[in-house]
Amino acid sequence: MRIDIVTLFPRMFDSVLNASLLGRAIESGTLEVKVHDLRAHGLGKHRSVDDEPYGGGAGMVMRPEPIFDAVEEIRDEQSHVVLLSPRGSLLRHDGVARLAEREHIILICGRYEGVDERVAEFLADAELSIGDYVLAGGELAAMVVVESVSRFVPGVMGNMTSLESESHSQGLLEYPQYTRPAQYRGHSVPEVLLSGHHGEVDRWRRAQSDRVTRERRPDFS
Ligand code: ADE
Repeated sequence: MRIDIVTLFPRMFDSVLNASLLGRAIESGTLEVKVHDLRAHGLGKHRSVDDEPYGGGAGMVMRPEPIFDAVEEIRDEQSHVVLLSPRGSLLRHDGVARLAEREHIILICGRYEGVDERVAEFLADAELSIGDYVLAGGELAAMVVVESVSRFVPGVMGNMTSLESESHSQGLLEYPQYTRPAQYRGHSVPEVLLSGHHGEVDRWRRAQSDRVTRERRPDFS
């Protein structure tokens, strides 16, 4: 799978793309991620990428030409072009899984007060938000997409079974996990987990998942 990111702040991606499992997957070629500096497509001597909004109002709006130019340079017939924006449809587990089936994703990071609507309408295939809050730009949202999608790519995660059984994949939140010591500051690990009865452990975990989900996310499936 290939992911291209179009941004005014390429350096923001350095640490995330170099660390941990993601860094290893990119280094080994399991996953190909490239970051493109939108400024390279800026207009005129000052490589301008934004302008005042038509109709007036505060702030600047990102112009369409640099974004169209950058994306058209990268895209092919396989590409799925995504604009990150707080106005997008909300990204959830199933949306991440669907994105992971794509051969090639192009992520456009918006900045400033907005992006000329023609980008969403005529260039992007989808507009996605990672949550109901406003970030300074789409960069952190793009990192969330890269990391969540990459976990579905075979070979990126060390242990694929942990992906299947993990939180969200069955519309449930994860059960509580414990490790050593069995006693810590007077708090003990639930007895059943020390019992060695796999059937009982499974039943307990399932009941805990149901409880946690009911308490915290009654909106879940
Ligand atoms: N850009 C700014 N806020 C965002 C959000 N919540 N999701 C995606 N992109 C954004």
